[in-house]
Amino acid sequence: MTKLLCIGAGYVGGPTMAVIAKHCPQHEVRLFDINEKRIAAWNSDNLPIYEPGLKEVVLESRGRNLFFFTSEKIAEQIDWADIIFVSVNTPTKTFGLGAGRAADLQYWEKTAREILQHSNHSKIIVEKSTLPVRTAEAMENILNTNNNGFHFDVISNPEFLAEGSAIENLENPDRVLIGGHKTPSGKKAVQAIVDIYANWVPKERIITTNLWSSELSKLVANAFLAQRISSINAISALCEKTEADVEEVAYAIGKDHRIGSKFLRASVGFGGSCFKKDILNLVYIAQQQGLPEVAAYWEQVLKMNEYQETRFVANMVHAMFNSLSGKRIALFGAAFKANTSDTRESPALVVCRELLEEHADIVLCDPYALENARQDLGDKADQVHYELEPYKAAEGAHAIAILTEWDLFTNLDYEKVYKSMAHPAFIFDGRNILDHEALYKIGFNVYAIGKAPKQHFHRNEVDSEGGMY
Ligand code: UDX
Ligand code: UDX
Repeated sequence: MTKLLCIGAGYVGGPTMAVIAKHCPQHEVRLFDINEKRIAAWNSDNLPIYEPGLKEVVLESRGRNLFFFTSEKIAEQIDWADIIFVSVNTPTKTFGLGAGRAADLQYWEKTAREILQHSNHSKIIVEKSTLPVRTAEAMENILNTNNNGFHFDVISNPEFLAEGSAIENLENPDRVLIGGHKTPSGKKAVQAIVDIYANWVPKERIITTNLWSSELSKLVANAFLAQRISSINAISALCEKTEADVEEVAYAIGKDHRIGSKFLRASVGFGGSCFKKDILNLVYIAQQQGLPEVAAYWEQVLKMNEYQETRFVANMVHAMFNSLSGKRIALFGAAFKANTSDTRESPALVVCRELLEEHADIVLCDPYALENARQDLGDKADQVHYELEPYKAAEGAHAIAILTEWDLFTNLDYEKVYKSMAHPAFIFDGRNILDHEALYKIGFNVYAIGKAPKQHFHRNEVDSEGGMY
């Protein structure tokens, strides 16, 4: 039996270790988190995060070879473990050097020092958190300052799961990446991690690289994915001006297998805990290395995303006669994507805040993410109404904006919705999930991303700020 501990039972640590426990009944897996409420939730029927299939996987192993612990037990758990996965958060630094761009490594460093303090034998330490390239070097330096004769091998094993499909991604990953030193002890450590994944992942999908390639690959993978979205979103703005249809353009270019069809869905913008943070981090590293052109190139991916969010709101204002003051607007979706309760960096909340600035009367509707949305909105939270039921949210509204692509919103009876709204009724589809022609026939004025608007009144003005009519 190998003793596996994970420090940080969040969106990454929780599902990852649950799937490892499921496929490795011969090993014992323990998860630790300083957040007691989170651990209590992992030990209850009401798990702290929503992921399709997660509950089944947790229930299969919990109490058998999967256990959850909190603060007072840290020393004991660290000493017990042979392999420690570290999956604590690495947010963007908000202070000092690199503020707003660099990764804040304080939790990682604190964890490394705790590992050092409580260890009584050699261990393998696995970086699960996304970290700047060469972080492992700093961690090795801290860990190997002990003079007890122990050795710590630091391995990079970034997680590529996407939220909402975490279990599917973990069960059937495109690849597992494991980076380590080419020294005899580094190779042994890499092999130990390969052996864990080999319990369910085909060998050819387990890639081993040097430590630095592995660390950098995670940042680059996220940067490339985000770049595709910003690229198609840039084109969506052009489509709205030219009456080309962004979905047709995406389909046509995606058929070229060199380009491929995935991640070409134009939207109100990308969100989530990783894309922005990791690109900022990449930009910072490029600047630090004296590569300003490289930094500026990647920074533009973020600027385009902000432009897309702001443009969405500007389009709403212009379409609704340049005033939203006092108008009820139903926002359909708060989560940063469907099938998750996560609202971190959600474009829905950016739109929500900007509409509040316009003095709109906002009702936010989401099947799973309202609690997180309320927390993230902070001092603005009380200015928003929260509604689980879309029909109720739409009642009396002047407009609906689709901000998350939940199936729930696709499958509504829009005739019924239309009848309950104030008229003229507007719908802004920030995810292109609705049948725009059908909505137009019902009577809605329809505005989608990257498509010519369908409106019942005639407009021939071109507004000075580049609105879409
Ligand atoms: C995190 C990082 O944000 C991401 O960069 C990385 O790729 C994986 O880990 P995520 O799991 O989504 O992603 O973060 P979060 O849900 O915030 O989980 C981190 C957990 O670590 C939290 O539950 C937090 O309480 C815990 N933590 C943090 C500790 O247990 N100890 C600490 O010192 C700090
Ligand atoms: C991402 C990466 O996909 C994953 O590999 C990494 O481990 C963590 O970061 P995640 O943020 O969970 O995962 O979700 P993802 O599916 O990548 O979506 C990110 C954002 O992009 C969402 O807001 C989504 O709605 C948006 N998106 C995605 C688009 O706007 N258009 C697309 O075509 C795809």
